[in-house]
Amino acid sequence: GRVVVVFGGDSAERDVSLNSGAAVLSGLQRSGVDAIGYDLAEAGVAGLEALKPDMVFIAVHGRGGEDGCLQGALELAGIPYTGSGVMASALGMDKLRTKALWQSAGLPTPESILMTSETSHAELIERLGLPLIIKPVHEGSTIGITIVRHAEELEKAWQDAAGFDARVMAERFVAGGEFTLSVLGDRALPAIRVEVPSGFYDYEAKYLSNDTLYHIPCGLEPEEEAELAELCLSAFDAVGCCGWGRVDVMRDAEGRFWLLEVNTVPGMTDHSLVPQAAAHAGIDFDQLVVRILATALE
Ligand code: DAL
Ligand code: MG
Repeated sequence: GRVVVVFGGDSAERDVSLNSGAAVLSGLQRSGVDAIGYDLAEAGVAGLEALKPDMVFIAVHGRGGEDGCLQGALELAGIPYTGSGVMASALGMDKLRTKALWQSAGLPTPESILMTSETSHAELIERLGLPLIIKPVHEGSTIGITIVRHAEELEKAWQDAAGFDARVMAERFVAGGEFTLSVLGDRALPAIRVEVPSGFYDYEAKYLSNDTLYHIPCGLEPEEEAELAELCLSAFDAVGCCGWGRVDVMRDAEGRFWLLEVNTVPGMTDHSLVPQAAAHAGIDFDQLVVRILATALE
């Protein structure tokens, strides 16, 4: 049957998705899969359905593609697709609701607060301390995120985040190591520790810079890495995710892990984390995309 790799769309992560989609499409084609690409921004879901796909590989990041909308359209059309279903995709796109689920499951995640134009800056700082992080609730790739180190930076950080999203959150900052755990099927791939010379794993460090260091093995003791993997699989499960994905975590100075977010359509560019984790587990890029595709039928 014919596979359509859907990418692009019109979210703020469009450019990242164009790269992810192109890489996924080439990988499937090299593996002998009958696959074509489709930019969701061109003729929307109607254009996609007109291609009569037997299966869809979702490589759209952000709103419209990663948030349950595309998944819902494909459910209605009866077309199998990769990754999480409607509910988990929608929840995973909403960092605050994801964290609420984790809290109710007893999983550790830094305290956070929905911030509005009415929120008192002084109270926010008193509750979360400084530095703190301001994030759009539904963005990816660190778009619109600021680490606020001084009270006077808070207003601009709020304005920046509000420019991307009607909902903005403030989160307690966890200083320490940044880890990410990729999930393929129901299995954890090796954890990666990300080290950024500038100290902030932002859009530049993610996609543009060659200075970002990706440590695999991640440097944790085996029992700590096992604890991290178990935590992330529980976090994935608590949101109802399936197929594949990636959970981002901070480790504080005392060695405690704090869940930040789950990505239900993680980046698949040549700088991306899931392909690196898979490679370390002996799964090359072409095998990886075929295995992700196979999860669409599970
Ligand atoms: N949101 C980007 C694509 C990621 O998590 O990899
Ligand atoms: Mg994300």
